[in-house]
Amino acid sequence: MALSTHIYQLKNVMKSYTKGGEKLSILKGLDLSIETGEIVSIMGPSGTGKSTLFNILGGLDSADSGEVLFMNRDLQDLNSRTIDHWRGRQVGFIFQFYHLIPVLTTYQNVEIPLLLTSLSRKERKRKIDAALSLVELEDRHKHYPNQLSGGQQQRVAIARAIVTDPSVILADELTGDLDAKTSEEIAKIVTVLNRDFQKTFILFTHDLRIAQLGKRMLSLEGGQIVPLKLEEEEGQ
Ligand SMILES: Nc1ncnc2c1ncn2[C@@H]1O[C@H](COP(=O)(O)OP(=O)(O)O)[C@@H](O)[C@H]1O
Ligand SMILES: [Mg+2]
Repeated sequence: MALSTHIYQLKNVMKSYTKGGEKLSILKGLDLSIETGEIVSIMGPSGTGKSTLFNILGGLDSADSGEVLFMNRDLQDLNSRTIDHWRGRQVGFIFQFYHLIPVLTTYQNVEIPLLLTSLSRKERKRKIDAALSLVELEDRHKHYPNQLSGGQQQRVAIARAIVTDPSVILADELTGDLDAKTSEEIAKIVTVLNRDFQKTFILFTHDLRIAQLGKRMLSLEGGQIVPLKLEEEEGQ
């Protein structure tokens, strides 16, 4: 049997939360296939479950039922140590609001994912320098997050996501609150990482400009993935 070229295949994924004794069904039999090397955007208004799906794809949370295959392996079958190891090698995360640590410099923030590896200080430095130069922040190594603009902080978050050289980068609300020019800079970085470094991107966003980076634009609606209907989105 030929192995599929899909990096992710989700089948019939269910997820609900219980709040105040009431069950909230968020993902309702969700199917999703993502090819290796794709840029896919997933839109949907606030509260539809984008972050829930982001967490499941990154192995930060698990589905109640269904399959979550990563390169033909079901993440639900892995124990937490194997999941941690897998996540550290394969997935880069860009969290909403950047999640930079305020008391650490740019350099130290980007170093965080590498501290979980067995790389030497010198090998870490080589990777951090490469990641920071890709996002054009070579001259900001010693700055703290509050000494950087929003766009620069977002770029630090991108450098941190790519420093381990993961196969896939998951972004939750990339450029959530950045101006048009900065969004454009971020978009350029995503394009380069995809084109020149074959990184797969899954972009969760309610910003149509960012969503348009996706070669495939999807929408999370009613707990399922459907193709994005552009006219409707533009009219909102
Ligand atoms: N840990 C949780 N416990 C209970 N409800 C949650 C939890 N996380 C998210 N929810 C609810 O699930 C729904 C989807 O949340 P989320 O995935 O964050 O949506 P989005 O990212 O699209 O805004 C929301 O109604 C939210 O309140
Ligand atoms: Mg969210």
